[in-house]
Amino acid sequence: MTDEGPSREGWSRRRSPATDHNACPCGDNPSVSDSLPIDLGDVVLRRVGPQDIGPICDYNALPEMAEYQRWTTTQLRDSVEAQAESDHPGLALWAVVLKAENRVVGDCQITIEDWETRQAVIGYSIHPDYWGRSYGTRAVRTLVDFGFGTMNLHRIFAGTDPRNERSVRLLERIGFRREAHFVEDFLVDGEWVDSYVYAILQKEWSEGADA
Ligand SMILES: CC(C)(COP(=O)(O)OP(=O)(O)OC[C@H]1O[C@@H](n2cnc3c(N)ncnc32)[C@H](O)[C@@H]1OP(=O)(O)O)[C@@H](O)C(=O)NCCC(=O)NCCS
Repeated sequence: MTDEGPSREGWSRRRSPATDHNACPCGDNPSVSDSLPIDLGDVVLRRVGPQDIGPICDYNALPEMAEYQRWTTTQLRDSVEAQAESDHPGLALWAVVLKAENRVVGDCQITIEDWETRQAVIGYSIHPDYWGRSYGTRAVRTLVDFGFGTMNLHRIFAGTDPRNERSVRLLERIGFRREAHFVEDFLVDGEWVDSYVYAILQKEWSEGADA
């Protein structure tokens, strides 16, 4: 990944929320971060603040993190800054904070793509020093719960590089279905790469929770 060269918008980092939110699924008080912080025991999910932008950009730019991403470091910083400062009701960027170290070890975001049909895209990343401790799975599960519960979304989707096995396993573990395999739909640093699209419906999520 470099700061130069052709690069299309990444799956979620660069998504802008739909602007027409007259049909907001969240009712009269559509601030998607109202429920924060969410305490998960050893970690807490809270809104990203200005002090988090540097750390989030730093770990996301590590080679093992950036390997399958479609943004440049410049795009990443611009996007995180804009999301952190945004009060847009269709956008939530959360920090995953490890209480014991008072450290931001990850981040996840949900962005409304279409208010009318209640569709949103999610993204997520965990600092590689903290992989394999369930933070990613628990954060994304909570985010999706929030999307279907508080935001009353109909469908949540995520895009990932098929080679990104950790991300694929995470999505499948929490019940997302693979809906699409796009072939060479991204050009990253001169190389054509594929994409998977995963999605889950509100009713499928509820059925999973009941199971
Ligand atoms: C994808 C990503 C978010 C996963 O985060 P994570 O915190 O490592 O995820 P988890 O810890 O919940 O799960 C990872 C593995 O650890 C295992 N695990 C979780 N808790 C565990 C525990 N307490 N003991 C043993 N194993 C555990 C999980 O079962 C999972 O195993 P698997 O991958 O073999 O199925 C992370 O790898 C990442 O940030 N990647 C780079 C950014 C990225 O690709 N984002 C997605 C863009 S589309």
